[in-house]
Amino acid sequence: MREFVRAASVHDVAPGEVRAVRVRNQVLALVNTGANWYAVDNSCPHIGGPLASGYLDGTVLMCPLHGWRFDVTTGAGVMPEGASIGCFPVKVEGDDVLVAVG
Ligand code: FES
Repeated sequence: MREFVRAASVHDVAPGEVRAVRVRNQVLALVNTGANWYAVDNSCPHIGGPLASGYLDGTVLMCPLHGWRFDVTTGAGVMPEGASIGCFPVKVEGDDVLVAVG
C-alpha cells in the first residue's frame, strides 16, 4: 500500500526546477512546474541517465544524456513514444511536499 512520505520542503525546489530526492529507498526526480508538483523516476529508462539533472520545459522533462523526453504528468515518453517512467502521487501540506511510494 502506498503511503505519503515527506520528500522536501516547498522551498527546496524553485518553480521550473527539478531536484533529486530520496524517499524511503527510492531516488525520485521532484518537479515543481510552478503550477503543480510531480514526482517521477530519477533513472532514465534508456541507460539510466539522471532525470533530475535534466531540463524542464513546461511539463516535459528531458534527460541530460541523450535527450529522451517525458511528460511528468503521466510518465509517458514524448520522444521516443512508447518509453515511460514511473509517476508517483504528490500532495503539498503546509511547507511539506509529500510523495506516495509503495
Ligand atoms: S540515458 Fe536518458 S536518454 Fe539516454
